[in-house]
Amino acid sequence: MKKIVFGLLGIFVLMQFIRPDFTNRAVDEKMALHADEKVMSVLKKACYDCHSDETKYPWTQNIAPASWVIADHVKEGRIALNFSQWETIDTKLKTTRLKRAQQLVSNGLMPIPSYTMIHKEAKLNQDEKELLGNFFNTQLAKLKTL
Ligand code: HEC
Repeated sequence: MKKIVFGLLGIFVLMQFIRPDFTNRAVDEKMALHADEKVMSVLKKACYDCHSDETKYPWTQNIAPASWVIADHVKEGRIALNFSQWETIDTKLKTTRLKRAQQLVSNGLMPIPSYTMIHKEAKLNQDEKELLGNFFNTQLAKLKTL
């Protein structure tokens, strides 16, 4: 029994040596998304940790395996949609992502439920969902007229 406990402890200690890179890229304000204050504040609290270069990491970033999960969410999230590089995304892709964002937010699938379990403030209420829904709509309408 003791051997198993020490073995597991050893593995846990070794796991700590595999540390993901948590540096945020510098944000170029000219390329970043700009929207009205209300929209920005909802996006920042609910989406920016995974969909921007302004990620605020929790203390658990220092502990494997939580650190690996966090790094993975941020990496995949930024690939899918990065609000800090909004202006660099081409119209077609932006349109697809905005439509998807509409669905995911209204169905409560974004922010990812495992994230809102820990970050309670990121859980969107009905008003916030509508605010984002309207924002996505306005953006979509704008893209259509381009
Ligand atoms: C905890 C991290 C996290 C948060 C917070 C988060 N997302 Fe995501 N999001 C991801 C990951 C990871 C992916 C890519 C994998 C996937 O599609 O499930 C993703 C994918 C997406 C996509 C692309 C999906 C597709 O199929 O094209 C959209 C759009 C999106 N998120 C919108 C949002 C919006 C809007 C918010 C805030 C209301 C948000 N996300 C909050 C992690 C997150």
